[in-house]
Parts: sequence; structure tokens; C-alpha cells
Amino acid sequence: MRRLLGVSIVALVCAVANAGVQAVAGFPVWAYGVTEPPPPAAAATPAPAPAGAGRGGAAAPDPTLLSLPGAAQQFTRAQISNQYGPADWYPGDHPPMPDIVAKGKQPQNVAACSLCHMPNGKGRPENAPVAGHPVEYFIKTMMDFKNDLRKSSDPRKANTNRMISFAKAMTDDEIRQAATYFNAMPWTQWIRVVEVSAVPKTRIQGGMFLRLDGRETEPLGNRIIEAPEETERTEVLRDPRSGFVAYAPMGSIKRGQALVTTGSGGKTTACGNCHGANLQGMGPVPGIGGRSPSYLVRQMYDMQTGARNGSWSELMKPVVAKLTAEDLISIAAYVASRPQTAAPASQTAVR
Ligand code: HEC
Ligand code: HEC
Repeated sequence: MRRLLGVSIVALVCAVANAGVQAVAGFPVWAYGVTEPPPPAAAATPAPAPAGAGRGGAAAPDPTLLSLPGAAQQFTRAQISNQYGPADWYPGDHPPMPDIVAKGKQPQNVAACSLCHMPNGKGRPENAPVAGHPVEYFIKTMMDFKNDLRKSSDPRKANTNRMISFAKAMTDDEIRQAATYFNAMPWTQWIRVVEVSAVPKTRIQGGMFLRLDGRETEPLGNRIIEAPEETERTEVLRDPRSGFVAYAPMGSIKRGQALVTTGSGGKTTACGNCHGANLQGMGPVPGIGGRSPSYLVRQMYDMQTGARNGSWSELMKPVVAKLTAEDLISIAAYVASRPQTAAPASQTAVR
């Protein structure tokens, strides 16, 4: 009994601590890879988009050549994270990349799409999973970035600000080339969702959670923590074959299933109506199944706040209007856990 009481008080304290954050802004800090909600005043002044965010510096580059299993070529660290031509470890895994994807373009400061979204379009929690998206949706959302209709609710999110500047500097032709390239690769499983009450301790680097060495844990509370399966392979080597694990609260997948498949009595709308039965996408509507839960929650929250406000976002407004922070977590846990296999041809055929 005493033990039970101890546990439930810990749970209560966590709930109150999290509720405290939500009462201020409802801002899901974990999904944005930060520890504090943005200060209210920050909304008016977006962070500048630094050209060399998070990398480089004046130190001489390390000449050591690094390798990955089964990769024919070796690369230095500087080559791996070269903004205008990052390492392509497995050229056989994807179609030939158009220049804009492989190298970006200079002097307009458009970094290679493959730097952040990876050559295979899998992306990372702090950016976006772009593989398999319908061409029409891809182009539409790039135009939303370009026309200031799609921003982050967190103006400090420097990589989203950079993404906006890339869209503005791209030609229609380059946007279509990138859209066609990423569309050609169907979305497949990349993230393992596990329900836990305690999560390995992590640190945040560049908006992404990385597990600390050692076995220390902390209560998960009302969050999803998404981290590379293998820290060094993702963070140092940018291995496009090494996926992620997402730790979600106990019972969240089942709660999410009810919301996603039935709308839970009018709280939301069944997602399959528009996103397809397996959430793999339908016609021009993008796939969401099996994709990064941090990304999914950021987008739903950005649509709630209106930071993401393209013409197609109208369709999502009633879907997200009544969802609480806990609902967003449950929905994302379920959606991310949906097994995805190569999408049917009919999905990618839509132009
Ligand atoms: C510096 C990292 C970075 C680079 C390089 C980059 N992006 Fe992005 N991209 C992002 C971020 C960050 C987001 C939005 C994530 C958010 O706001 O939550 C994004 C989102 C997107 C989306 C929206 C995906 C969706 O599901 O709606 C598309 C499409 C996209 N990028 C295309 C591109 C293309 C094309 C290029 C190459 C010209 C590119 N990106 C280069 C960081 C990057
Ligand atoms: C009435 C149709 C409709 C329903 C129902 C619907 N969606 Fe959407 N959803 C869309 C459209 C259209 C877009 C593209 C919005 C845009 O471009 O801004 C979208 C976009 C999204 C995105 C952003 C995808 C990305 O790659 O950035 C997420 C996440 C999402 N929906 C989740 C859901 C979830 C979860 C549900 C169910 C609870 C749901 N949607 C129900 C039509 C719908």
C-alpha cells in the first residue's frame, strides 16, 4: 500500500508538473526539442536563420575517414555534414538525386535537401519525413513555406526558418524535381514505438533527443521521447539506414487508436477518411502512418495555433480543434506505430 501510494504521488507530481507547462501555453516542449516554451514576446521576432547552424567552427577539419557496414565509400566528418553535398553512403538505395537534393544551390544558400531529410527522405525528428509524399502535396506545402503560410509555433526553431528561406530561393522547377524524387520512394517502417513509464535519460542537441551513456532513467510523464536507435550512427555518421525508437506513455497507443479510428464521439474525425485506411496517404493527402511522432505533434499543434495555415490546412482545423496535449500524444503514438509497407501504386500515381 505504501509503495502504491509512493508511485501514485510520483505520477501525480509529474502530471501536475506537466499540466503547469500546458496551463501556460499548451506548448508541447518535447515535440520542439526544447526545454522551455517560447517567451510570448518572441512570437513577433523570428530567430534569424544562421547559415552554419550547429556545425563547423574554426577548428581544422578532422581528416579521419569513417565508414559504415556495406558502404563502398568512406567519408570525413566534414564531408558527412557538408551542407552542399553531404555523404551519400548508399547510392544504390535510392534513384539518382537531382542536383537540388544532392547539393542544394549556391550562392542562394539553399542547403542540400539530403543533408536534413537524408538521401532516402526519411528525415529526422527535428525536421520532417518527406519520402513518399504525393507530388501535389509536396509542391503545395513548399508554396505555403514560400508564401509565409507555414511557420513554426516556436519562432526559435532555426531549422524551420531555414526551410522557409530555402523554399523562397527555389524555382518552381527545382521544387518539382525534389517533389518527384522523394515521391518515388515509398514510406517504410523507420521508427519503433514502445510504451514505457520510465525513459532513458537524454540530452537535447540541435532539437533532437540523444540517449546518455549509462542506464539511468527518468519518468516519461506526458511526453514522447524519440531518439536514435544508435546515437553515433545517426548523429555523427548520418547513417540513413539506422532508425529511431519513440518512447510513449503506457496506454497511449490504445487511446490513440480510439481517437484515430472512430474520432472518439466527435472529439476529432477518423483520420482514415482522408489519410487512407492504413494512414499511408490518399490522393493528394499526405501519409502520416509510421512517421515521426514528434513531427506529427508539431504539425498538429502548429495547425491548432495557426502557425501552419495553408489553404489545405483548413481541412485539418476541425480535426485538431478540440484535441488536448494528451490527445496529441496518444494520436501520435498510435499513428507512428502503424506498420507501413511499400505504398500501393495508386497512391503515388496521383499528380
Ligand atoms: C537545415 C535542414 C533542412 C534542409 C537542408 C532542408 N529542409 Fe526541408 N524541412 C526542414 C524542417 C526543419 C522542416 C519543418 C519541420 C517543422 O517545422 O516541424 C522541413 C519540412 C520540409 C517539408 C514539409 C514536409 C511535410 O511532410 O509537410 C518539405 C516538403 C521539405 N522540407 C522539403 C525540402 C527540400 C525540397 C529541401 C531541399 C531544397 C529541404 N527540405 C531542405 C529542414 C530542412
Ligand atoms: C477532412 C480530411 C482530413 C482528416 C479527417 C484528417 N486530415 Fe490530416 N490532413 C489533411 C490535409 C488536407 C492535410 C494537408 C494540410 C496542409 O497542407 O496544410 C493534412 C495534414 C496532416 C498532417 C501534417 C502532415 C505533414 O506531412 O506535415 C498531420 C500530422 C495530420 N494531417 C494528422 C491527422 C490526424 C492524426 C487525423 C485524425 C485525427 C487527421 N489528420 C485527419 C486532411 C485530413
